[in-house]
Amino acid sequence: MDLLAVALAGVHFALPLAYYSYAKAKWLPRPWNVKIDENYKPKVVVIVPTYNEGLTIRDKLNNLYEQNYPRELFEIIVVDSASEDGTAEKVREWGKEHPDVNLKLLEEPVRRGMNPALNFALKHISKDVEIIIFTDADSYWPPDALRSVVKYFADPIVAAVTTNIVLASREGLRRKEEMGENVYRSYYNNLRVSESKLHSTPVHNGALVAFRFRFIRKINGIPEFTGNNDSTPASIIAFMGYRAIQISDVTTVELLARNNFLRKVRRAQHLLLSFLKTKRYAKKLGIYVKSPFDTIWRIEWWLHVINPWLLVASLSFLIFNLVFYGSVTALVLIGAGLIPLMLKAYRAWIMQQVYLIIAAVRNLWTREIMWSK
Ligand code: GDD
Ligand code: MN
Repeated sequence: MDLLAVALAGVHFALPLAYYSYAKAKWLPRPWNVKIDENYKPKVVVIVPTYNEGLTIRDKLNNLYEQNYPRELFEIIVVDSASEDGTAEKVREWGKEHPDVNLKLLEEPVRRGMNPALNFALKHISKDVEIIIFTDADSYWPPDALRSVVKYFADPIVAAVTTNIVLASREGLRRKEEMGENVYRSYYNNLRVSESKLHSTPVHNGALVAFRFRFIRKINGIPEFTGNNDSTPASIIAFMGYRAIQISDVTTVELLARNNFLRKVRRAQHLLLSFLKTKRYAKKLGIYVKSPFDTIWRIEWWLHVINPWLLVASLSFLIFNLVFYGSVTALVLIGAGLIPLMLKAYRAWIMQQVYLIIAAVRNLWTREIMWSK
């Protein structure tokens, strides 16, 4: 039984490591194979969904204000869902102070969740807009983010673009320092970019996720079977055979949440729902075509849906052996699994498994389509 436990844990760690090494060696160095054009300057609408973002919204708008993209080609829509902390007021105020910005505030009378709010906002965007971008209120872009993202859309095969991301505390943001799980993030960013070089990545970031508007209309808006506005629509687009990529020439910053644990579980819940439902959804829409993205999808599906449970099984066997048979080997093996927790990257990996496991269980009774801050 100890042997079985070792085998399960072996598979759990070896598979992602092998995948990562392979992707990084074989795919990451590849060229993009898309036409990138710095002079391509289409109309862009940036949409910020807000619910009780009174503390962040002014910083967010100031940050968007610093984008060096032609102002006349760039509109900001804030869609607020009945915030109780004066978010909408602050947006109106900021708008008055910045009459040179094309800013629209949409207010929903009742809160229904982020994706319904975004779908409501989509109805207010004219069809000649080429690109729409979703961005969370608690995330920040470098000044050239828009330019860098948009240039990839010069190629009609590209229909979704997201960026690298790091986490920072409010103070860290001021000091422009990276922190926390950023060791893990670099593994994660590398993997997403590698997948994108081959074709597309199924995991996008809500700090900045850009879509060719036409595609979002074609899939009838943001699906509401999951709470996310990034990974699911991007994956549907990849299933259409178009590219949904993470680029590495922009790194956005996301503020660490006060309750990071719950946030991570909720996100894992949404991601799991995405892996469980998106492919079928794409097929039902009749837009699915076979592409190299299928391989990436299968592997990531395994890594998110199945792989965490190998660790659970392995640990259960060892604990069983220890408790019922007093197995010293089991004790040593458990120790061997715990000691590397001193390493940040290992700890981040284990935590990710914990989030995915709790998320899978939690999805049985709540999908967290609406969440508290
Ligand atoms: N209009 C509106 N209505 N906006 C909302 C609502 C709502 O009911 N609920 C949340 N938002 C806004 C928040 O104000 C924020 O700007 C953004 O949606 C993301 O919400 P957060 O509360 O910051 O959650 P998060 O950081 O965990 O969100 C991330 O996870 C989601 C998927 O699980 C983001 O990356 C999302 O983009 C991602 O889809
Ligand atoms: Mn957030």
